Amino acid sequence: MPDQVRLQDVTADNWRAVTRLELTEEQKRLVANNVYSLAQSKFEPQARPRAIYAGGTLVGFMMYDLELDDTPPQAAIYRFMIDKAHQGKGYGRKSLACAIEEIRQVPGIKSISISYLRDNPVAKKFYASLGFVEGKDDGDKWGEIHAELAL
Ligand SMILES: CC(C)(COP(=O)(O)OP(=O)(O)OC[C@H]1O[C@@H](n2cnc3c(N)ncnc32)[C@H](O)[C@@H]1OP(=O)(O)O)[C@@H](O)C(=O)NCCC(=O)NCCS
Repeated sequence: MPDQVRLQDVTADNWRAVTRLELTEEQKRLVANNVYSLAQSKFEPQARPRAIYAGGTLVGFMMYDLELDDTPPQAAIYRFMIDKAHQGKGYGRKSLACAIEEIRQVPGIKSISISYLRDNPVAKKFYASLGFVEGKDDGDKWGEIHAELAL
């Protein structure tokens, strides 16, 4: 199936392509750039950087944390972007579903949290449609909202 969406490791073969994925000018403030995220993932062992493919094409990037030593273990998705040339084709929805399934396989994880900026109405509506429920607060000191999906 040409459009099958899947998550793959970021490796020596694809990391440069991941850094070349682009957002629109207006979207750049919504998520840290991928160079930063990949650097961060080298020093934070809980980070799971994932390349998003549709068929054989790299279309986006996601990063989540698995805090396996916490009680209970925690999962948190905090970077998510689809390249501007590939947005609006359903890849965001499908790749998030893949991430949820991937995290569901990790023993002990009971919920997934996700964070996004308060003034990102697309993210808010999108995550709510997948079952994420926002916390009561109106955003933390960085203006980030945290929502949670029970598994
Ligand atoms: C949010 C994002 C990952 C969605 O990826 P995508 O591949 O375009 O999403 P999809 O095509 O699967 O669409 C998902 C939903 O978002 C909505 N959506 C996507 N882009 C939209 C836009 N520019 N305006 C309004 N709604 C939009 C769609 O209507 C869709 O809802 P539906 O399935 O009910 O129709 C992508 O827009 C992106 O990278 N945005 C910039 C970075 C960002 O905001 N990341 C999330 C916070 S960390």
